Amino acid sequence: MRDPIQITEVKGRAQGGYSSAPFRCRGEDGLDYYVKLGNTHPSGLITEWIGGHLAKAMGLPIADFNLVYVDPDLTETLPADFKELRSGIGFGSLCAPIGHRELVFSDISLLDAELLAEVLIFDYWIANEDRKLGTAHGNPNALWLPRRDPNLLLIDHDNAFDSSFGLETFFNDHLARDEKSAWMNRERRENWQLMALPAIESLSSLWATIPEEWLTNEFDEPLPVPSMKIIENFLIRPIVAEEDFWQPFVEL
Ligand SMILES: Nc1ncnc2c1ncn2[C@@H]1O[C@H](COP(=O)(O)OP(=O)(O)OP(=O)(O)O)[C@@H](O)[C@H]1O
Ligand SMILES: [Mg+2]
Repeated sequence: MRDPIQITEVKGRAQGGYSSAPFRCRGEDGLDYYVKLGNTHPSGLITEWIGGHLAKAMGLPIADFNLVYVDPDLTETLPADFKELRSGIGFGSLCAPIGHRELVFSDISLLDAELLAEVLIFDYWIANEDRKLGTAHGNPNALWLPRRDPNLLLIDHDNAFDSSFGLETFFNDHLARDEKSAWMNRERRENWQLMALPAIESLSSLWATIPEEWLTNEFDEPLPVPSMKIIENFLIRPIVAEEDFWQPFVEL
């Protein structure tokens, strides 16, 4: 795994009612990252990191990401309204290519239905309600990229592994809700499980990459964050409770 990328400049903040309002920062590699650190809870950093790696493992188009390091000396120089960033190791989502914008409802019909079905099952698996889009509003946590294949880029998994995940809300609001029927196909379900298995098996090695400071405080006491077991319990549903897991897709 790459070392954390040192942040050299804090340039601004995502605008528009976002819960963590990530900081747009320049990395030592010359690239811009949307950074979550003091502006989100450590549990959000953990779910963001694990969710992001699982999205990659499942072949989904997700904004590239890395651990980033914000030096206390840099934080010291920031204006008061940027101090919330704090210092230490954060999550950096690589800024999408020029021309990107937030996904809107009319984009959905232009996206590949197969890909949308994969996004739907992925969010169901990781219990992520946070990819909603209707005709008038939503919170898609997905970007539209012009002149790219696919035109879709996923972001934001800090609300995944949600213990209050609601099936009804999920299937009513998810941006790919219309692709639910794709999963009535048993062969498709079996192929998906074959892909998910190695991702599930890699959880403990992935867990080992979580920075210690997201798990324990400066007195070495555990922070109130989800354990690996909790996350594993979400992920193993298609293995240990296969019938229950697929039930919402079998009879529509
Ligand atoms: N990699 C990226 N490239 C471009 N824009 C990004 C990227 N990551 C985040 N953003 C912008 O910042 C906004 C907020 O980011 P994100 O959704 O990760 O934060 P959040 O606070 O967890 O959001 P929410 O309110 O959905 O929980 C995004 O909607 C998008 O406009
Ligand atoms: Mg978001």
